Amino acid sequence: MDRIRLIGGNELRGEIPISGAKNAALPLMIASLLTAEPLVLTNVPRLADVKQLERILENHGVDIAVHGRRRGEAEGVGQRMTFTAGEIVDTTAPYELVSKMRASFWVIGPLLARCHEARVSLPGGCAIGTRPVDLFLHGLKALGAEIDIDDGYVVARAPKGGLVGATVRFPKVSVGATHTILMAATLARGTTIIENAAQEPEISNVAECLVAMGARISGIGTQTLTIEGVEKLHGATVEVIPDRIETGTFAMAAAMTGGDVLLRGARPEHLQAALDVLEKAGVELTTEAHGLRVRRNGNGIQPVDVDTDPFPGFPTDLQAQFMALMTMSTGTSRIRETIFENRYMHVAELARFGADIAVDGQVATVRGKPQLKGAQVMATDLRASVSLVIAGLAAKGETVVNRIYHLDRGFERLEEKLSRCGAEIERVAG
Ligand code: EPZ
Repeated sequence: MDRIRLIGGNELRGEIPISGAKNAALPLMIASLLTAEPLVLTNVPRLADVKQLERILENHGVDIAVHGRRRGEAEGVGQRMTFTAGEIVDTTAPYELVSKMRASFWVIGPLLARCHEARVSLPGGCAIGTRPVDLFLHGLKALGAEIDIDDGYVVARAPKGGLVGATVRFPKVSVGATHTILMAATLARGTTIIENAAQEPEISNVAECLVAMGARISGIGTQTLTIEGVEKLHGATVEVIPDRIETGTFAMAAAMTGGDVLLRGARPEHLQAALDVLEKAGVELTTEAHGLRVRRNGNGIQPVDVDTDPFPGFPTDLQAQFMALMTMSTGTSRIRETIFENRYMHVAELARFGADIAVDGQVATVRGKPQLKGAQVMATDLRASVSLVIAGLAAKGETVVNRIYHLDRGFERLEEKLSRCGAEIERVAG
């Protein structure tokens, strides 16, 4: 199994291009199920999760083409891919495929809307929390679907003539349930209103894509989405937004090591809450024409308290990286994880670097130390893994991060991007 070996202590200096957002690319790919015409996506990141979803879509009959680099296009630019779901050949998403990635459950929305039936394996538990699907089922039922759970599968059937528009009020904000009901509603008869919808930039990217495909949606970017169903959607070309979590991760890496990094293509408005926290911690941030510049020169990191929250709050997907940063602050900070109940697996691993962190329920208390020491650590989930890389970059001596397949699910060319900015980091095979 591959590992990452790094020697900490170098400041990061240079430019890091930000890739397309994994969490936008995945639902955009799923949206291709809604039409028989080609959906062209640009700036798709090269990630294991994208590959996995390709397998799932192909199983439903989607034809997928990856296009070469266009003349004049920079090296490392995201992929241009075409997804054509001319005919849906199978409305079942089997356990073997769905169990590997929770987002694949979201195919239930488009399949049900277009084919009036879907049989999708329950995604099952996940390392970061129980992650149930009750909100999805609540929304689909409101649109008239009949739902049974059979042998670990959600079996959903639309009424005769297809799904019917309705008001869906989510008791809790869910990114996945919002994506799913939004997609399902585009082809429903009549008007759907989604209340307490997730407002993440990835939701807006998908909603704009659906509009480009002929859907009628208003309220994009707000808590209330109104969708007037149409009979058919058509093809479109849509760009995947830059990854705000990758942006925040590299911003925290630069904050931790010191130095001066331009995050090329970053959209600061997509992670304002995290940037506000970094500024409070003493990091200098400047929005430039081509992205976001992050600097920390010499001065210490101030402790800041943070609660994770749905967008526009501080993202749970940056909690582990922020905790790594706080392990070297000049005081004590408190971090409260409010989205997932078990997203502190990195705590035990950060302790191997000498970090002082105590967890009590949802709250982690981090007492900063002037210096971490390199260690052998184990990656547990995607964002936890990268927090260990960040800690290693700032720690004294050698760090080896084991089980890095998690990183490949969500970070494109991580070692290359960091080493180009002066980090001593390499992938060790086997
Ligand atoms: C999305 O997951 C992201 N995944 C996650 O990123 C991210 O952490 C999460 O949103 C929160 O921002 C993708 O976009 C592919 P939720 P999702 O439904 O949609 C509860 C990463 O590292 N809930 O918004 O699965 C749930 O248990 C990943 O890239 C229910 O109770 O998250 C959680 O506590 C990890 N019932 C909360 O809602 C439901 O039916 C928010 O989850 C659905 C969710």
